Amino acid sequence: SPFKRDAVASGTYSTGPADVASIDWDNLGFGYIATDYMYMMKCDQGGTFSNGELQRFANIELSPSAGVLNYGQGLFEGLKAYMKEDGNILLFRPEENATRMQTGAERMCMPAPTVEQFVEAVKATVLANKRWVPPPGKGSLYIRPLLMGSGAVLGLAPAPEYTFLIYVSPVGNYFKEGLAPINLIVEHELHRATPGGTGGVKTIGNYAAVLKAQSAAKAKGYSDVLYLDCVNKKYLEEVSSCNIFVVKGNTISTPAIKGTILPGITRKSIIDVARSQEFQVEERLVAVDELLDADEVFCTGTAVVVSPVGSITYKGETKKYGGGGVGAVSQKLYTVLTSLQMGLTEDKMNWTLE
Ligand code: COI
Repeated sequence: SPFKRDAVASGTYSTGPADVASIDWDNLGFGYIATDYMYMMKCDQGGTFSNGELQRFANIELSPSAGVLNYGQGLFEGLKAYMKEDGNILLFRPEENATRMQTGAERMCMPAPTVEQFVEAVKATVLANKRWVPPPGKGSLYIRPLLMGSGAVLGLAPAPEYTFLIYVSPVGNYFKEGLAPINLIVEHELHRATPGGTGGVKTIGNYAAVLKAQSAAKAKGYSDVLYLDCVNKKYLEEVSSCNIFVVKGNTISTPAIKGTILPGITRKSIIDVARSQEFQVEERLVAVDELLDADEVFCTGTAVVVSPVGSITYKGETKKYGGGGVGAVSQKLYTVLTSLQMGLTEDKMNWTLE
């Protein structure tokens, strides 16, 4: 049945309070594990968020008429906290998530927390759930900030009240393949975004809209779907949950941000890391045909980190990369980025927050 949960992500799901002692840190996937605390902050018609506080993790109460439930007025973010060997915790560029939430909120007619409120709330939530941060090298604490129209509406209009909420979950690898290359299929019928639409912001509806193509791809044995632009049906956009990069020689190309592609923070960081490693990086229109003579392809995202692509299928033809293994460029960029995120190398970029 198409309604059966058929998660592309790996991992088990728990809804009730979990026991931290029972977690198998060596086999974390990307499934939800309930933790101790969540953060909640509300905003009334004045548009200012205030009185945010940590609460015990629990279900939340919403009016059946809430804007988010009826008209999809909602955004989410994703970032990770890593535990260092010395027990301190590192966040990766949280202010980037804060400003991206503000940009998305503007598009979705919502007020947003200030950058300072966002970052302080993230820090408080992580510290309150410190015992759920995986030990060094075993994974990370995934942080999920939400912004939603929680006030009641009936006619189509922005909600009269908003809720900012953060919950967290310990996670390991996103794809069930782990760090092994994933297999993608190019979707040429369904589209994820349109010019002038909301593809460039992290609104919740963008993710529901890709489930149908993703489920069909999964049923055929693929890991996920690669979307094309909806005007020319010719240029690469992104995968359901991550951005895409194509390697040819010393040049790494990725679709330019033009409103239909999510401006990934890992995407932006990998561009800088690649340039620091003497690669030439081009942000431009990348035609689907270029996949045919690429040396390597990889995906980036907070959840997927840097995920090598082993094959891409387009109109029945499959092009393979990396000979079943991880390509050298993907491996290099993965190692440089994650070493920095985990605090194993000096953070010359000044991206981490301890
Ligand atoms: C992330 O990478 O953090 C995302 O928000 C993608 C999500 C589908 C897991």
